[in-house]
Amino acid sequence: MSKRHLVTAALPYANGPLHIGHIAGCYLPADIYVRYLRRRKENVKFICGSDEHGVAITIRAKKEGITPQQVVDRYHGMMRDAFKELGIHFDVYSRTSSDVHKETAQAFFLDLHEKGIFEMKTTSQYYDKEAEQFLADRYIMGTCPVCSHTEAYGDQCENCGSSLSPTELKDPRSMLSGSKPELRDTVNWFLPLDKMAPDIRAYLDQHSDWKPNVYGQCKSWLDSGDGLQARSMTRDMEWGVPVPLEGAEGKVLYVWFDAPLGYISATKELLPNDWEKYWKDKDSRLVHFIGKDNIVFHCIIFPGMLMAQGDYILPDAVPANEFLNLEGQKISTSRNWAVWLHEYLADFPEKQDVLRYALCASAPETKDNDFTWKDFQSRNNSELVAILGNFLNRVYVLIQKNFEGKVPALSVLSETEKEVFDSFHKAPETIGKSIENYRFREALAECMVLARMGNKYLADAEPWKVIKTDEAAAAHILGVAARLAAFIGQCIEPFLPFTSIKILNSFHLSEMQWQDLSSLDWPSFLKEVNIEYPGLLFDKLEDDVIELQLQKLEENKVQKRAEASITIAAAKEAVEFDDFQKMDIRVATILSAERVPKTDKLMKLLVDTGVDQRTVVSGIAEHFSAEELIGKQASILLNLKPRKIKGIESQGMLLFAEDPSGKLHLLSPNSEIPAGSSIG
Ligand code: 2FM
Ligand code: ZN
Repeated sequence: MSKRHLVTAALPYANGPLHIGHIAGCYLPADIYVRYLRRRKENVKFICGSDEHGVAITIRAKKEGITPQQVVDRYHGMMRDAFKELGIHFDVYSRTSSDVHKETAQAFFLDLHEKGIFEMKTTSQYYDKEAEQFLADRYIMGTCPVCSHTEAYGDQCENCGSSLSPTELKDPRSMLSGSKPELRDTVNWFLPLDKMAPDIRAYLDQHSDWKPNVYGQCKSWLDSGDGLQARSMTRDMEWGVPVPLEGAEGKVLYVWFDAPLGYISATKELLPNDWEKYWKDKDSRLVHFIGKDNIVFHCIIFPGMLMAQGDYILPDAVPANEFLNLEGQKISTSRNWAVWLHEYLADFPEKQDVLRYALCASAPETKDNDFTWKDFQSRNNSELVAILGNFLNRVYVLIQKNFEGKVPALSVLSETEKEVFDSFHKAPETIGKSIENYRFREALAECMVLARMGNKYLADAEPWKVIKTDEAAAAHILGVAARLAAFIGQCIEPFLPFTSIKILNSFHLSEMQWQDLSSLDWPSFLKEVNIEYPGLLFDKLEDDVIELQLQKLEENKVQKRAEASITIAAAKEAVEFDDFQKMDIRVATILSAERVPKTDKLMKLLVDTGVDQRTVVSGIAEHFSAEELIGKQASILLNLKPRKIKGIESQGMLLFAEDPSGKLHLLSPNSEIPAGSSIG
């Protein structure tokens, strides 16, 4: 292991509350990893804080009619408290609006400037005359040039995943005034990633052992089309860290330049005199936990910035998770489709570990995964209550009833008991290896194997029967079982810290160093301990509780829909009848449907248009399953020029109605009619 570990978790934008997708994607795995390292007595610092700059914040402020500072103050406190309540235990939770951050980010920028790294370039950027400002990144929306999605942002199309620059958008519109922006020249400072590409490639080549989803995404960035491009590290905006140069008034650092430097400033806040060791000494190891949408920034741009500066270590691992969906749909703040962490904590104040367990057990480690309330209920009832809780409770109750709560001593171990103890001794190393390889689901499953073994041991040994004839033998059995139970309490701490502490307290134990668990001496472990009964560790979740949560999800969505319906888009400009007639819209029957691999949204469909059978690629995979679509009729714009989407030629466009909640609906005739029938 390294001399020092610096573990970071992505700084969440302070523009809204946290939801379970954030937790499963990044913060829970990071917390488990750090707790494990702490238990190994490694020198580790766990760094996080709020990302308080960027367009996401100013848009929120405008929507709510408050200042950006008011937005970040509100959500910074809310996120910090929610993390703490869930047991996500950072060494520091800082914020990028702090003075130390401003100084750090400006000094870093100046350093690169003085080293001659940046290229100053004049480019044409969109400008909103009504709002009198340039429109960076998400301030601008328009039609995606790749998939024709009409709600693409200036930096990315969330429909097809393409990374865009604002000038590529068709029909651009300002998010501030809704008006059509004009192009104006402006000067910005660019990081020449194109020139740095060989060094970045060499760095990535050293990390081909990274998770395939991470490594693969980096490689495709490097190898795609024109390869890496110089990227502007400044923006024409008011809100952010001001560019510390004369002549740069009205410009701030790009949020993705500023935010990762927040990891450094937070470390400075924690260790004003010692932070450099963690960032500049080659015996330190830097690990970034993030969600998959942050991969390029942590694996290419931030390492590029650090390389250019020259004094810093580079990220050693970037274990990014995929996305967590909710009840089969993408989690969405705008559609209010989310389980909000603060609401969960209010509804289930004693069940932090149930959420930690459910999210870890179904974490999207290798692919997107789905959270459902039914699954949550079954994780609780069939696993935590029936396996872990049941074992512990039987141990407590039997010892209470038969031995006045005193853990009996061991006598001679049977072969089976020796084997069980042996398996327990081996478990911390197995669990540890999984954690070190960022396989947290596997590690948690190993803990549950221990609880299952405990249950099996009790079921086979039947101390409740043995006690009737042989008290000494029953005492020995319960002595073994109590030791297994306490050992489990030690092993689950990184995953279920609240339950672990209850178990350890019940046996008057403190956390042991992880490595010592493998050689623990069973007879002296729990010697003459009187159990403090902690009560039931987990209780059953009834159907009505789950129903209530499902109802809440639907109600939130309906409420959002009602809000959204107030802002139904205004009518577009009038068109000539001839223009309309140019469009050949028909009824088509969907013959087959399959998701386009490595995309979240795209579905490849084969449709019978009456005229022919053709392939259409459509961004609907989050709204429909393949089974739902096959055999259905839909409307198709037949004569849209073919376009390549993710390498597949799409011959036409299926038409959908989007309701105010963002859900798509097929436009089908009310009874089946021949494919090819005209619509008009
Ligand atoms: O995606 C996000 O929520 C970003 N605020 C993450 C920033 S991570 C880092 F660079 F600070
Ligand atoms: Zn697109």
